[in-house]
Amino acid sequence: MSGLLAGKRLLVTGVITDSSIAFSVAKLAQENGAQVVLTGYGRLSLVQRIAKRLPEPAPVIELDVTNPEHLAGLADKVREHVDGLDGVVHSIGFAPQSCLGGGFLDAPWEDVATALHVSTYSYKSLAVAALPLMQPGGAVVGLTFDATKAWPVYDWMGVAKAGLESASRYLAMHLGPKGIRSNLVAAGPLRTMAAKSIPGFEKFEESWAERAPLPWSLTDQEPAARACLALLSDWFPATTGEIVHVDGGYHALGAA
Ligand SMILES: NC(=O)c1ccc[n+]([C@@H]2O[C@H](COP(=O)([O-])OP(=O)(O)OC[C@H]3O[C@@H](n4cnc5c(N)ncnc54)[C@H](O)[C@@H]3O)[C@@H](O)[C@H]2O)c1
Repeated sequence: MSGLLAGKRLLVTGVITDSSIAFSVAKLAQENGAQVVLTGYGRLSLVQRIAKRLPEPAPVIELDVTNPEHLAGLADKVREHVDGLDGVVHSIGFAPQSCLGGGFLDAPWEDVATALHVSTYSYKSLAVAALPLMQPGGAVVGLTFDATKAWPVYDWMGVAKAGLESASRYLAMHLGPKGIRSNLVAAGPLRTMAAKSIPGFEKFEESWAERAPLPWSLTDQEPAARACLALLSDWFPATTGEIVHVDGGYHALGAA
């Protein structure tokens, strides 16, 4: 098998439609020689249907990242398909409606706690659950939306992403001695199911069209997926705790 990820075994979370960033990652990874196992949340039959659209139909394991039993059983379930893991992709985010769209001052703690549990803490939970299957050279990759700034309508999801970015650095610190890397891709706005659930998401779309120095497509998940593949590959062997921006260069420019 040839390709950037030849012979690598990957666990990819976060496929729900074929617009999911995770779907692009899984597709490109298979096209580049990887063996892919998916996890699905909630609507498993839908995820299984989408999984059949990959170049190679991929097995789907049920995983709610907030469910301790699912996490405890994950390694054994993955072992039914592959004998180890070289990479894990965290492509998961969720916040209750109160947390998004301008409700920052009113969102109750219970809702904020859900957003942080699913979108932030789960990065660590997933990595630890997969750790028994990983060896030196392995990589964990997650998806963020630049959390160095406060964005209109992103509200508590922005706080969750700031936490995710910090959690990735701490994971890099704690897994580095085992030879395992942790990196994030900061993607620009993409029309996925998660994005459509953000009231006012079109503000991001307009802003990117106006300001990103490179042309930005809202429907092309491949640039973000390619960066995930690069970080999972052997071509970033000494890079960890890093955030690679795949946003058309938006983050590099100031507004005037
Ligand atoms: N779409 C964008 O504009 C954009 C930009 C930057 C970063 N991101 C990030 O990319 C990642 C993937 O999102 P996407 O845009 O592909 O949307 P998506 O809706 O396709 O994927 C989100 C996934 O999270 C999963 N999920 C939600 N709660 C879960 C739980 N409790 N346990 C396990 N899985 C759960 C959903 O099932 C879904 O598959 C997210 O972290 C998102 O914040 C998205």
